[in-house]
Amino acid sequence: MNSQEFSAFLRVCRDDVDSALLTVLPKVPVAGKRLSEAMKYSLFNGGKRVRPILAYAAALATSENLQNRDHIHPVACAVEAIHAYSLVHDDLPAMDDDELRRGKPTCHIAYDEATAILAGDALQTLAFEALTQASTLTAQTRLRLIKQLAKASGAEGMVVGQSIDLNAVDQTLSIGELELMHAHKTGALIRASVQMGAIASEQASPTQILALGNYADAIGLAFQVQDDILDVTADTATLGKPQGSDQASNKPTYVSLLGLNAAKVKAADLHQTALDALADFDHRADALRALSAYIVQRDH
Ligand code: IPE
Ligand code: IPE
Ligand code: MG
Ligand code: MG
Ligand code: MG
Repeated sequence: MNSQEFSAFLRVCRDDVDSALLTVLPKVPVAGKRLSEAMKYSLFNGGKRVRPILAYAAALATSENLQNRDHIHPVACAVEAIHAYSLVHDDLPAMDDDELRRGKPTCHIAYDEATAILAGDALQTLAFEALTQASTLTAQTRLRLIKQLAKASGAEGMVVGQSIDLNAVDQTLSIGELELMHAHKTGALIRASVQMGAIASEQASPTQILALGNYADAIGLAFQVQDDILDVTADTATLGKPQGSDQASNKPTYVSLLGLNAAKVKAADLHQTALDALADFDHRADALRALSAYIVQRDH
């Protein structure tokens, strides 16, 4: 897949998930306009859509023919809604206390704290509702997807990762502890995005799903290593969120533990691990291969 084809793939996936998200947005009563505006604001303020794109790419890698991608849209919406909710809450004063996200005021600044909390709550339940409404998938597949997303985003996944992160302020973690935190905070939802895309294709073998899990673990960690690197090396304008936020709140990161160069080597090693995990896949996994490179090369 050359860079033009990859750019086209990213564009199509982003357009698809954006249209699908518009269709799953709830019909909030007029009196709840502030809530629904805050939800829309948090979903459509310029995210890269990495998780939905991973779901589409994993479906592509495990499908005979993916001309009709309609059955993947609910998964794409669900993982992006969980991600959006996690960021709205992550930015709150009680958590990272950040005022800038994707180059715009964070949800609680644009609206207010209570609205941001509620918008996050509603985005979370919206994710599961979208999966229940995936009418082109069998009931068994839908249940499997719901379980996978619940595990990845709850107290065995992202939420416990956030808790470990907040408790780690001013602490020195070992590399093992840092990886455990990252594997939950960021890795779990990325793994779910990849595996749910494959599950929704309804054509993936258990061996393929396992291999995709190994791929996802590597890119999930690489994603957070790169996020930590960018917190140090990028500027606020490119990043669209405050540069130096981790340092300012004295968070342990890959860079603070390993140093910048070793963190960059770690990201490159993880990219190779991800490619190795895809060894048994043919050209249909090229989008996944390109996404792994994109994750460690991204500048925001
Ligand atoms: C940022 O995620 C938060 C982390 C989990 C590291 P993204 O970098 O995917 O954020 P957006 O959606 O593109 O803004
Ligand atoms: C956020 O991690 C992870 C989740 C929201 C689950 P960070 O706190 O590092 O993300 P940024 O840097 O604010 O985007
Ligand atoms: Mg955080
Ligand atoms: Mg944060
Ligand atoms: Mg960060």
